[in-house]
Amino acid sequence: MERTDLADMGSLDLEQFRPYVSGFYTEFFWSQPGVEHYRLLVHFSTYFDGATFIDLGTSHGCSALALSYNLANRVISYDVEDLKECPIELPNIEFRVKNALEDSAELLASPLILLDTYHDGVFEQEVYDFLTQNCYKGLLLLDDIFVNTAMREFWDGISHTKIDLTMCGHWSGTGLVVFDMENDTLRNSSILTPGGA
Ligand SMILES: C[S@@+](CC[C@H](N)C(=O)[O-])C[C@H]1O[C@@H](n2cnc3c(N)ncnc32)[C@H](O)[C@@H]1O
Repeated sequence: MERTDLADMGSLDLEQFRPYVSGFYTEFFWSQPGVEHYRLLVHFSTYFDGATFIDLGTSHGCSALALSYNLANRVISYDVEDLKECPIELPNIEFRVKNALEDSAELLASPLILLDTYHDGVFEQEVYDFLTQNCYKGLLLLDDIFVNTAMREFWDGISHTKIDLTMCGHWSGTGLVVFDMENDTLRNSSILTPGGA
C-alpha cells in the first residue's frame, strides 16, 4: 500500500470502520491528529507491508481497527477482558484475551507495538523492561504519556531514542520509542520529525 501523507490524515476516509466503532469511541475515532491518535495509527500502518502489529489494550477495538487499515498487515490485539460492545470480525485482526507477555515471541517479532493500557506506569515499565532486556528492534508507540504523573515519570525514564508525537497523536500525549535507530523503515521518514510532516 502507498504511504499516506501525515498532512492529509485529517481528510482520510475511515468510513469502512463505522460499523465496528462503538460506545463513546463513536465520538473520538474520527477526531483530527493532535486530538486523538487513531489517524496517526492508520498512517503508521501504511509504513509496513506483511507485518504483524501488537495492540496492547483492546478496549472497544478502535486502536486495532486503525492499525488494521493497511490490509497487507495483521494485528494481534490483547486485553485482560473482552470489552468490545460489538463483534469485530475482520480478516487481519485477531483478538486475544490474555496477558500479552505470555506471547513473548509475537511481541519481539513485531515491528510496531502500541501500548495503551491502564496508564499507571507499572505495566508500561514492565513491557519496556521486557523489550529492552530481550533486545527488541522495533518501535513502541505509547498512548497517554502526559496523562498523569506516573506516565510522565515513565516517559522521562526511557533511555532509548524517543519522539514526542503528541502534536499529530493524542492530546494526552503520544510517544514513540525507537529501539533500533538503524530501523530503515522510519529513520528517514517524516514521522520521526514531527512538525516536518
Ligand atoms: C485506554 S483502553 C485502550 C483503548 C484502545 N487502545 C483504543 O485506543 O481504542 C485500556 C485497555 O487496556 C486494558 N488493559 C489493562 N491492562 C492490560 C494488560 N496488562 N494487558 C492488556 N490489556 C490491558 C484495559 O482492560 C482497557 O480495556
